[in-house]
Amino acid sequence: MNISFSKIALPSQGVAVVGVAEGGKLGPAGTKLDKQTRGTLSRAMKGSEFTGKRERTLSIVAPAGTKLTRIILVGLGSLKTLDAVAAERIGAVLYDAVSKDTAATVVVDQTGSVTSSELAAHVGGGAVLKSYRFTKYRTKEDKDAKPKLKTLTVQCDAPGDAKKHYAAVSAVVDGVFFTRDLVTEPPNIIYPESFVARAKELSKDGIKVEALGEAAMKKLGMGALLGVGLGSERESQLLVMRWDGGKKNEAPVAIIGKGVCFDSGGISLKPGAGMWDMKWDMGGAGTVVGLMRALARRKAPVNVVGLCGLVENMPDGRAQRPGDVVTSMSGQTIEVLNTDAEGRLVLADVLWYAQQKFKPKAMVDLATLTGAIIAALSDQYAGIFSNNDELSNKLIAAGQAVSERLWRLPMGDEYDRDLKSPIADMKNIGGPRAGAITAAQFLQRFVKDVPWAHLDIAGVVWNDKGTPLAAGGSTGWGVRLLNRFITDNYEG
Ligand code: BES
Ligand code: MN
Ligand code: ZN
Repeated sequence: MNISFSKIALPSQGVAVVGVAEGGKLGPAGTKLDKQTRGTLSRAMKGSEFTGKRERTLSIVAPAGTKLTRIILVGLGSLKTLDAVAAERIGAVLYDAVSKDTAATVVVDQTGSVTSSELAAHVGGGAVLKSYRFTKYRTKEDKDAKPKLKTLTVQCDAPGDAKKHYAAVSAVVDGVFFTRDLVTEPPNIIYPESFVARAKELSKDGIKVEALGEAAMKKLGMGALLGVGLGSERESQLLVMRWDGGKKNEAPVAIIGKGVCFDSGGISLKPGAGMWDMKWDMGGAGTVVGLMRALARRKAPVNVVGLCGLVENMPDGRAQRPGDVVTSMSGQTIEVLNTDAEGRLVLADVLWYAQQKFKPKAMVDLATLTGAIIAALSDQYAGIFSNNDELSNKLIAAGQAVSERLWRLPMGDEYDRDLKSPIADMKNIGGPRAGAITAAQFLQRFVKDVPWAHLDIAGVVWNDKGTPLAAGGSTGWGVRLLNRFITDNYEG
């Protein structure tokens, strides 16, 4: 679907979408259209429960004498709180209302707490985000189910400005879509090496992409990551992506993703029902790749390095056993009591490598790490754990700004004690309680004195029901958050 911007003029064909503020208030263009159609809009409002409440819609058959097919009223809610996030959601709602039409025009003639060109850009962005479909493996599709909308025209006072805003919005949308594609792909298609091959597409965006295979990782001593891949026919990979849009020699921000392309649990095998969900256990890595695309496409003036630990966790004659002891790159030894607590083993070595190789000024990891975080927060918040209040607050604020919310959970020595092993430096599981926290404590043992935050995104990567900006399935959660975090804190 294309988004185009133009000056405000009463739409003369197709579907016209008009915003209505709380209390049924039309803007100047809406009022004109109401007059031109002899009160059709106000009459329709009177005869219904529609009052302009945010994200509600009312569809009206266009009166005879116009070339319009329908007029859709979309609720803007209170204009005081009409910001970029609200605009995105309104865009998503109106997309659903017009997706089966061929052409639609939305008139942005009321202003909220951000400029009208920003509103227009985000209405467009929200519509495109909601339009995402993954159809490559369908050989037959019900024609009626197919969206038909080719172009959404957004009318506003300053279409030139809106276009400029939209360039940045669109770069982020491209990143989100790349993430959703990677995460949705089935695990026979996306495995460590094919993930790397897909990430290499980023070199066209100006990103330096490299990958280390098992031999290189062995040389570096990455026994924790490599142990997870032992049972797999697929070779493990460490993917490194650099975007150097900032000052030369300025330390980068490191963003690290868990990339378990399939998590069967290994010898500590998971139950069969729902095991298919573990194709998206590479969601953290998928987010990192999407973020890199977003940064590159909007030419962000910042240095960021993205690293993904890519493995497949499978049971096999060569697989690691419960009870094995592995030596991580840091030199610390780990007793692997549960092969299904594999994400932390992968991240242990990637975190260490990132610090040693890139000396980052801050380090953020994203991982579908624990079922325990889902028990705690469901799909509403991702968990954040950090050794640094300032970094943590910056991430929470960025999440708030884009509505990808984070909730901080505590850390401390009392939890760390649960990781004591009788024969090695630590074991890879804690007790039965506070599983998301003990997982974070494990990761922290591989963090030196750099500001670090760990985002446990197990509850937000995939959503069967859909979210305000995603129809269902992979959400692309985190691309918008991290993009905002970097924009607000590290650019100029
Ligand atoms: N990938 C899973 C966590 C997960 C569960 C993500 C459900 C998304 C949905 C992770 O590798 C795992 O298996 N964690 C175990 C840890 C336990 C063995 C200590 C868990 O959470 O049960
Ligand atoms: Mn697991
Ligand atoms: Zn896992």
